[in-house]
Amino acid sequence: MQQRLQKIIADAGITSRRKAEQMILEGRVSVNAEAVTQLGSKADPERDHIRVDGRLLSRATQHVYLLLNKPVGYVSTVSDPQRRPTVLSLVRGIKQRVYPVGRLDYHSSGLMILTNDGDLANYLMSRASSVPRTYHVKLQGRPEAGEIAKLESGVVLDGRRTAPCQVRPLAEGDKPWYEITLVEGRYHQVRRMFERIGQPVVKLRRVRIAFLTDRGLRPGELRHLTRAEVERLKNWKGAR
Ligand code: URA
Repeated sequence: MQQRLQKIIADAGITSRRKAEQMILEGRVSVNAEAVTQLGSKADPERDHIRVDGRLLSRATQHVYLLLNKPVGYVSTVSDPQRRPTVLSLVRGIKQRVYPVGRLDYHSSGLMILTNDGDLANYLMSRASSVPRTYHVKLQGRPEAGEIAKLESGVVLDGRRTAPCQVRPLAEGDKPWYEITLVEGRYHQVRRMFERIGQPVVKLRRVRIAFLTDRGLRPGELRHLTRAEVERLKNWKGAR
């Protein structure tokens, strides 16, 4: 069946549809040995030989959806100029190439989704989905109630106010634990938000993405998402 080239490339897990369009415009895609630079071009993934940067797309790449509990000490990029271990080194026995959806800092731990489904990855990262992510953080010191209220109503990072969020105490002490739930994923957002109120984060763990929790998943472990979980993520819309 004829399909738009960008859809075929995204379905093969190479990249998102939007980036696939860019690749087509850049002349990096060919169909049956002919370069295609026209957006809207179609091909049949079952019959045509489609190449991206010279590499043949395998016919029906199966989508894979994994939930990983990232330990501290791994980068969440595909490669690292400093040669630190990447989360991909924790993925074994999966023949498809998967990519992390979003980032968790080297010093942070917790849940990450890895997939070769570029469309779902893009959707989960977009504002349209507003997927809530919940973190447990240990602070350097004790914040005042007013400071927590400030976080909840939003602080300015890079000239833009953060969306309202929920923060609740988890454990008291000189270095208390808090839970924070965000519907955005800006660069180092949790750490920078607490820094804004003068309370550096000393430990950070992502414990929930939408309805997915780390229950039964020890650091370094991963599992496949069920079909029902994938469907629920695909249909996730807005804050709930
Ligand atoms: N916010 C951060 O500051 N770090 C993370 O790893 C995730 C969210």
